[in-house]
Amino acid sequence: MMDRRRLSHIMNKAAKARIAVVGDLMLDVYVWGKASRISQEAPVPVVQVRNRTQTIGGAANVMRNIVSLGARAKAFGVVGKDDAGKIIRSIISEQGIDDEFVLSDASRVSTQKQRIIAGTQQLLRIDYEKIEPVSSSIRANLTEGLLSAIGKGKVDAVIFEDYAKGVINRELAEAVNKEALRKGIITALDPHPSQPLEVKGLTLMTPNRSEAFALSGTYYKETQRPVEKDKALVDVAGKIMKRWAPEHLLITLGGDGMALFGRNGRCLAVPTKAREVFDVSGAGDTVIASFVLALLGGASPAEAAEISNHAAGVVVGKIGTAAITVDELFQSFFERE
Ligand SMILES: Nc1ncnc2c1ncn2[C@@H]1O[C@H](COP(=O)(O)OP(=O)(O)OP(=O)(O)O)[C@@H](O)[C@H]1O
Ligand SMILES: [Mg+2]
Repeated sequence: MMDRRRLSHIMNKAAKARIAVVGDLMLDVYVWGKASRISQEAPVPVVQVRNRTQTIGGAANVMRNIVSLGARAKAFGVVGKDDAGKIIRSIISEQGIDDEFVLSDASRVSTQKQRIIAGTQQLLRIDYEKIEPVSSSIRANLTEGLLSAIGKGKVDAVIFEDYAKGVINRELAEAVNKEALRKGIITALDPHPSQPLEVKGLTLMTPNRSEAFALSGTYYKETQRPVEKDKALVDVAGKIMKRWAPEHLLITLGGDGMALFGRNGRCLAVPTKAREVFDVSGAGDTVIASFVLALLGGASPAEAAEISNHAAGVVVGKIGTAAITVDELFQSFFERE
């Protein structure tokens, strides 16, 4: 069991960490309003807008979680030369994230997801994006930047946050992973099944349940409880461990919590704490950020899983893509029954 002293020891040490995050940067926009009548133009609700808020999402949400947990993050990604791109960059730097490698490309459309919310009900999501591999010069710049940061000992871990929108490809991941292995730093991949980047020997992989099934080429099967006896899940984990050989495979299971697999083949199930759930988007970003930070803080894999499960449990209780603070983490551990 985690006590206060142990958690502060881990989080204090983690606060010294510097983490590079490479992946697809996004802008999450929320338009809040009230819908009380149907339009005369078409049978659709009319939303009377009250408020509009925006935050950074995708890989940038992983960075946001890292800084809100007290550590330092270095961004590696691309935005278009458009308004959304300017906003993404300015929020990144406002948050205190190092934006030296947030590159701009006039041929790209910055990824933006707009949600229209009436009361607490999401009515519509509007996506702006151009899913296409980034140009070879941008990819080369990002790779060089990452290799140099790792080579010069400027980062303690690298997180690949892949939403398969064009920033990460196999060459980038392989080159960066190789250098990270040479320097002995932590590497973590939140994989996207549409591009199973086959990099071997990562420290951590964090697919959700359906991504894990897709990565292993297995038809999806519903969760069996208890999780340790979920044979289909254990088989899927075995296949991923064989092909990717990560040190830790953390499969997130939504409301069922998470299952942690190590190279010894054992499965540790971490159930969620019952709590009110408002919005599960971004929970995966919090999981990878907090697990990596916990490891850098000296946590065991089981402790890191417990910490990231608490952290994700907090953000699913907030509306919108959210990040967690150290105070909130302590409250989740020690101030709820
Ligand atoms: N309904 C829920 N109740 C409690 N905790 C939850 C719930 N849904 C998700 N979580 C927490 O969030 C973690 C990650 O959730 P999930 O498995 O849905 O990840 P994901 O699909 O990658 O999320 P994302 O939308 O960020 O990509 C879970 O392991 C759990 O700790
Ligand atoms: Mg995810």
